[in-house]
Amino acid sequence: MGFYSERILPNLIACACGTRPILKQRRLMVPEARGRVLEVGMGSGTNLPFYDPQSVTGIVGVEPSAGMRTKARRAIAGQAIPVELIDAPGEALPVEDRSIDTVLLTFTLCTIPDFQLALSEMRRVLKPEGRLVFVEHGLARDAGIARWQHRIEPVWKAIGGGCHLTRPMDKLIAEAGFRIDRLEADYLPGTPKFSGYVYKGLAGVR
Ligand SMILES: C[S@@+](CC[C@H](N)C(=O)[O-])C[C@H]1O[C@@H](n2cnc3c(N)ncnc32)[C@H](O)[C@@H]1O
Repeated sequence: MGFYSERILPNLIACACGTRPILKQRRLMVPEARGRVLEVGMGSGTNLPFYDPQSVTGIVGVEPSAGMRTKARRAIAGQAIPVELIDAPGEALPVEDRSIDTVLLTFTLCTIPDFQLALSEMRRVLKPEGRLVFVEHGLARDAGIARWQHRIEPVWKAIGGGCHLTRPMDKLIAEAGFRIDRLEADYLPGTPKFSGYVYKGLAGVR
């Protein structure tokens, strides 16, 4: 991996994913996690302070970027909840079938190259009554903004570590065999509309 992706990009992502409107979404959704949690694309561990230690027994974090794992290890130090951080992609989760109560997915499905395979892996590891908790940015509802997202995406992907702007997150999650139980989709305040249309919700295994 190059200097940009392992040294510069982790800092850029940590800043972009730590704005006040994004932290607010984390504060709203991360406490929905229960039991044994799998966090896919743990990044720099920005979600860790938002887990409820009364509800979560342990966290498995998978993160394929060494630069991100270095930052996550700092966030993990001193955590009350046990956290295991593993070098793995969402497309090959090193977790047994039906062993996870909550999969947490925040601002990661936009970047996973084979999102269909990754979603099928998440479905595989969830217990039948388990839940997917998601907060993901994606394709905007307004045609004018969506057109701009398509135009900007090639450059955005190149500088953003493969981040896509045009994925219709609710549709992708439903097509992967999840039942969407709760969904809100709207623009984040104080965030450019092309990157700030956020889908957040809860889904169960169909
Ligand atoms: C925008 S960051 C979000 C990080 C974190 N989930 C958060 O909410 O702050 C996207 C993350 O996805 C990770 N990623 C990239 N490819 C991945 C893959 N194939 N499977 C899982 N995570 C991946 C990146 O390394 C990065 O940490």
